Amino acid sequence: MKLVGLVGWRGMVGSVLMQRMQQEGDFDHIEPVFFSTSNSGGAAPALARNETTLKDATDIAALKKCDIIITCQGGDYTSDVFPKLRAAGWNGYWIDAASTLRMNDDAIIVLDPVNLNVIKDSLQRGIKNYIGGNCTVSCMLMGLGGLFEHNLIDWVSSMTYQAASGGGAQHMRELLTQFGSINADVKALLDDPASAILEIDRKVLARQHAMNADETKQFGVPLAGNLIPWIDKDLGNGMSKEEWKAGAETNKILGRGPGFGSDAQPVIPMDGLCVRVGAMRCHSQALTIKLKKDVPLDEISQIIASSNQWVKVVPNTREASMQDLTPAAVTGSMTIPVGRLRKLEMGPEYLSAFTVGDQLLWGAAEPLRRMLRIILD
Ligand code: HSE
Repeated sequence: MKLVGLVGWRGMVGSVLMQRMQQEGDFDHIEPVFFSTSNSGGAAPALARNETTLKDATDIAALKKCDIIITCQGGDYTSDVFPKLRAAGWNGYWIDAASTLRMNDDAIIVLDPVNLNVIKDSLQRGIKNYIGGNCTVSCMLMGLGGLFEHNLIDWVSSMTYQAASGGGAQHMRELLTQFGSINADVKALLDDPASAILEIDRKVLARQHAMNADETKQFGVPLAGNLIPWIDKDLGNGMSKEEWKAGAETNKILGRGPGFGSDAQPVIPMDGLCVRVGAMRCHSQALTIKLKKDVPLDEISQIIASSNQWVKVVPNTREASMQDLTPAAVTGSMTIPVGRLRKLEMGPEYLSAFTVGDQLLWGAAEPLRRMLRIILD
C-alpha cells in the first residue's frame, strides 16, 4: 500500500477531506501517516494503522518516506516545505489545496470530472504536482463544464456571491458574531410589532458603523447585513486576484492556451466581479455567457445536465429557483445546481445562468481525494 502523508487534516478543509475520505473508503487503499505542525509526537487519529503518532510536518526526512502527500495546511506551509522536500530529492506526488503552486508549469489544477484527460496526460508525462483549483472556478466548471467541452463558449462574465468560508473558519465565526450583535441591538424593537422599521434600520446601521477592529478582524468591515465587492489582493490594475483567477485557472484546467502547445485550443476570455456576501459555505455565481452560435435552450440544458453525475439543471421558474438554487439548499451536498438558464435580450447567443456549489466540497476537498484515487488506480 502506498504511504500517504496527510498534512492540515484538522483544519476546516482538512476535516471535510477526512470525512469524504472515510465516506468513500479511501483509507482502505492507503497506509496513512498523519503529520502535524504543532503536535508532533501526539496521538494520531483512530484512522491511523501502523503510524499511530503524529509526525512533524516540517520534518523533511519523515515527509520523504511518503509516496504521496496531501496537504490542506495552507500556502505558507507549501511555500516553506515543498521546495525543501523537492530539493532533498523527493519524487512523490504532492496534492495540495493551497494556491501557491497552481500556476506553475510543472503543476496541474485538478478537477477530474472536467479535466481527466489533462490529468491522465500529465501523469504519463511524469508530472508530480496536483493542485486543487480556486473554489469559485471549480464550482463553475462542475456546473458549466458541458458547454466548455462542446466548445460552445465565446466568452464568459461571472458575477460571484462568495460565502464567508472562502476566507476561512474564523471568517465564518466573525460573520455569525456580527449577525448576533446586530440582532441583539434591535431585538426589543423586533419583538414589538408596533415599532417603526426605520428605527430598527437606523440602529442596525449604527451597530455596523460602530463595529470595532476586533469585530471586523477578518473581513475588515462588517459583512453581516452588508457585502464586500472585493476578494483577495488588489493587483493594481483594477482587478482583484480572485477575478484574475477566474480566467487564468479556468483555461489552465481546460488545457487551453499557449502553455499547452501549438495545437492547444485558444484561451476563452473569462472575467467579472467577485463579491463576498453573508452566506456560510456555498459560493454562488451569476454568469453571462456569449455562445459561439445560437443553440436552443433545451439542447443547452441537455448538454449541461449530461456533463457529469453531480450537475443538476434547475427549471427556470421562481419556485424551483427558490427551492433548489440557494446556498442553504446546496450546503453539505455534492450536487451542483445550474439554473436561471435563459436567452438574454442582447440576442440568441447570450445565455444567462446561475450556479451554486459547496466551496468546501467541490471547491476544495473533493478534487484532492479524487486525485489520490486516480494516482492509486
Ligand atoms: N479565494 C476563495 C474565497 C476561496 O476567498 O472565497 C478559496 O478558493
